[in-house]
Amino acid sequence: MTFIDTHCHLNDEKFSADLEEVVSRAEKFSVTRIINFGDTLESSAQVVRLAEKFGGMYAGVGVHPSEIENFDENKSVEKIVELAAHEKVVAIGEIGLDYYWEKDSAVRLAQQKIFIQQLDIARQLNLPVCIHDRDAHGDTLKILRSEGKNLRGVLHCYSGSLEIAREVWKMGWLIGVDGPVTFKNSAKLPEIVKAASREMILLETDAPYLAPMPNRGKRNEPSYLVAVAEKIAELRGETVEEVARYTTANAKKLYHID
Ligand code: NI
Repeated sequence: MTFIDTHCHLNDEKFSADLEEVVSRAEKFSVTRIINFGDTLESSAQVVRLAEKFGGMYAGVGVHPSEIENFDENKSVEKIVELAAHEKVVAIGEIGLDYYWEKDSAVRLAQQKIFIQQLDIARQLNLPVCIHDRDAHGDTLKILRSEGKNLRGVLHCYSGSLEIAREVWKMGWLIGVDGPVTFKNSAKLPEIVKAASREMILLETDAPYLAPMPNRGKRNEPSYLVAVAEKIAELRGETVEEVARYTTANAKKLYHID
């Protein structure tokens, strides 16, 4: 039984003192592969370097909607394309829309434009996409419908409704499930996890954020992925081994990793 943590930020400074230990602890808990995502050009370069250093690590590169301030439609796009050429870059991400932190409509429009530009990169390079959607479900879906043709990907750390999840699945996109599924107040997520077909779920931690119970509030790390898998197994009446098997298969298929 092996797991893939499909969304992490192990380049975060919270791991600078003990990254090797974090990685070996993950391996001890059968989390043998980890995909780190950048959110700026700088952190995208960092996650590529991590993927060079660790055999089981892969990288996604892109600019997060909350980090678009200095995005240059020529230079930034060029840089992402350059980083994405690395053999261990398996995705464009995390990209998308964040209306929780951004209330200004002009900036929201800029987020949309830059999101679309990065979807174009993914299409050009034939890479899957990892999407950040916070309080922007309607516009995210609209953009994926109009601009997501010939693309595959995942709505990471899914926080929308079941209704929207069904639309996402219909388009062939997956949802990423992480720590919040274990929280007592995770109102909609358990129902969504129960309703999902096996092909439509990815496991992720989003470490260092969103540690699952019983470590909620602490620094998250890939070894905690098992707690997410256990909760999914409990909700769906499956064994953890089954959850490991199909979520690992889904991740390998989406991100073309073996
Ligand atoms: Ni993230």
